[in-house]
Amino acid sequence: MSSIKVGLLGLGVVGGGTWKVLTQNAEEIARRAGRSIEVTAVAVRDVAKAKRLVGDSVRVTDDAMQVLRDPDIDIIVELIGGDTLARTWIMEAIAQGKHVVTANKALLAKHGNEIFAAAHAKGVMVTFEAAVAGGIPIVKAIREGLTANRIQWLAGIINGTTNFILSEMRMRGLSFEQALADAQRLGYAETDPTFDIEGVDAAHKLTLLASLAFGIPVQFDKAHIEGISTLAQDDITHAERLGYRIKLLGITRRREDGIELRVHPTLVPVDCLLANVEGAMNAVLVSGDMVGPTLYYGQGAGELPTASAVVADLVDVARLEAADPEHRVPHLAFQPDAMQDTVV
Ligand code: NDP
Ligand code: HSE
Repeated sequence: MSSIKVGLLGLGVVGGGTWKVLTQNAEEIARRAGRSIEVTAVAVRDVAKAKRLVGDSVRVTDDAMQVLRDPDIDIIVELIGGDTLARTWIMEAIAQGKHVVTANKALLAKHGNEIFAAAHAKGVMVTFEAAVAGGIPIVKAIREGLTANRIQWLAGIINGTTNFILSEMRMRGLSFEQALADAQRLGYAETDPTFDIEGVDAAHKLTLLASLAFGIPVQFDKAHIEGISTLAQDDITHAERLGYRIKLLGITRRREDGIELRVHPTLVPVDCLLANVEGAMNAVLVSGDMVGPTLYYGQGAGELPTASAVVADLVDVARLEAADPEHRVPHLAFQPDAMQDTVV
């Protein structure tokens, strides 16, 4: 079978990682996908910088439209971030009949309903495993592993930067500013780190998880959001003396009157699993009515863990591409009976 052709938009932390994963594990990936996955074009701003990573084997351009309109490309991987240009480019990719893989939770939390509807109408897939909890396959777990369950609630640490900052402040006595600078240097933080420290990034992710878990449309504007920027070293020390750790949690659950959606710093007892998740690790507890509570743990941000999730989506799309569009499960599948479940 011929290779599946990929156009990569963005070659930064996650885009560069995706290139590395596809190159280093090419054989295993091809075996699992049933065909090889070949990046044939890359769009960036700084062409010379990108060429230092990918060499001359791939077309590198600063004209993304060239990539989006290339009839030989099957999948567009959007890794530029932001919610303006990325939206235009993803909508163009869909209009061109291309599948889309993205790590862009900010975009999907804001414009996901429009994007998933457009993809559905066109019969293409939009996948986003890397958008939530980095390398943890949480989207797949909810969509597939727990599919027999009525999900009751989920809660977890879904922002690596803030968890890293809280850990560094507690364990190494670093200031908030020092710890944030380290998170930025390590490639964990968003381009605008206020998204991380004010809880917005966690709320973006929680919105997507709630849509998956409860079959509701994306409703980011209804989320309650508090971040960690007002926490001081003293708060962390006092909490520890009382037997608690402060964690930024995302929590969503079914209630009689709708779906609860909230992100805020939380006092977690030190003997609780979530209290012991340190650094950029993430952990998500999901409770289903049949299975009970389940726990997912792993690296929540950074180059290769996030790229691992991007490539997992590419393998999925390569496999499903051969299937009848009716039998693909690409985007959020809103359940008609859940449409009235709004966030309260
Ligand atoms: P980076 O800033 O490291 O990389 C962004 C890339 O996009 C760069 O290659 C940049 O090109 C390119 N780019 C930006 N604007 C344009 C433009 N106008 N035209 C062409 N290329 C452009 O970001 P990340 O890799 O960290 O993040 C990418 C996405 O992944 C974001 O949506 C982020 O939220 C998400 N994400 C990030 C994670 C992480 O741990 N970093 C984890 C999970 C998701 P150039 O270098 O030439 O300027
Ligand atoms: N800035 C995000 C975080 C990247 O720190 O969790 C991963 O989504």
